[in-house]
Amino acid sequence: LGNGLALTPQMGFNDWNAYGCNVSESLIKSTAQAMHTNGMQAAGYTYVNIDDCWMTHSRDSSGRLVPDPAKFPDGIKGTADYVHSLGLKLGIYEDAGTATCAGYPGSLGHETTDAQSFASWGVDYLKYDNCNNNGVAAQTRYTAMRDALAATGRPILYSLCNWGQDNVWTWGANVGNSWRTTGDISASYSSMLSIFHSNVGLASYAGPGHWNDPDMLEVGNSGLSDTEARSEFSLWAEMAAPLIAGTNLTSASATTLATYTNSRVIAVDQDSLGRQGTMVSSSNGLDVLAKPLANGDVSVVLFNETGSTATISTTANAVGKTGAAGYTLTDLWSGATSTTSGTISASVPAHGVVMYRMSGGSSTGGGPTTGEIHAVGAG
Ligand code: DGJ
Repeated sequence: LGNGLALTPQMGFNDWNAYGCNVSESLIKSTAQAMHTNGMQAAGYTYVNIDDCWMTHSRDSSGRLVPDPAKFPDGIKGTADYVHSLGLKLGIYEDAGTATCAGYPGSLGHETTDAQSFASWGVDYLKYDNCNNNGVAAQTRYTAMRDALAATGRPILYSLCNWGQDNVWTWGANVGNSWRTTGDISASYSSMLSIFHSNVGLASYAGPGHWNDPDMLEVGNSGLSDTEARSEFSLWAEMAAPLIAGTNLTSASATTLATYTNSRVIAVDQDSLGRQGTMVSSSNGLDVLAKPLANGDVSVVLFNETGSTATISTTANAVGKTGAAGYTLTDLWSGATSTTSGTISASVPAHGVVMYRMSGGSSTGGGPTTGEIHAVGAG
């Protein structure tokens, strides 16, 4: 969406994966405070996002949404003021239907009023869900809120959450800053893997201001091992996905925070070229992904989907590099560097990744560009 926002994929926190319906002002404030002091904000995480269940079950006499006064005693405005005072931004959730998925009032037919409420409260980000939509075409419903947000004059990042329906990637770039490409993630390796497979073929649709969204991160939630969590984080970065932390950041372990704040991996996600990485080879669950970067480097992920350690190999040419007698590989998790004449090969643990930044020579710009190969498959 050409609103000047999300020129690189948005980074932040959302409460849903860790807390479900149990959102509150105190949770949002304590999370923002934690992000301010634990390295998350410094690493680039900006948006602190409220998900479903923040409001009362009915609108007020003027038709406006009402924050639940028990959960948000200072309202959304008071919460936003606090988040802003830390240098962070506040996100909110609504639904492009008659009710949210949890049954609170939806915005269908109330787009102008609700967008004005969000802007007046100081909201910086809207995640717009898809429940109870009465069968009205998604493009119609999501465009109505896009226009209502624009009319407020406030910059509000617009995150479409229609679960990949209606091939949203084919029209999403003109409507939102990102669009969910799949149903909901859960904290399991199988869920993460299936979402990765659905999202990875959609690279040609993504770019600055408009990103494929394979859903929020489960890094730190029980159900993913530390190895699997690093794989999720690496794959999401390689796919230029929004990096929205979905765990309890007030009690996150040092390992979890180290994963979320790996600046070398974040730099791949946030690279200004804005190309989503693509699968350059995949055989028997051993995958090689490549993402061209703005300075001519290429980010390479070797991902072992299988349940046993395996060696994964590729070449400079295969990942889009050519023309040098030697290349430098930086291991983005260990920080170690090595040189190679062209072969890239590593032993990769079960469900794990090895991720490199390759420099030297010139880039052949591997992977599809907009207008080229469209979606290898989204299913
Ligand atoms: C469905 C969305 O996909 C989830 O991310 C979450 O927002 C829930 N709805 C909330 O009801």
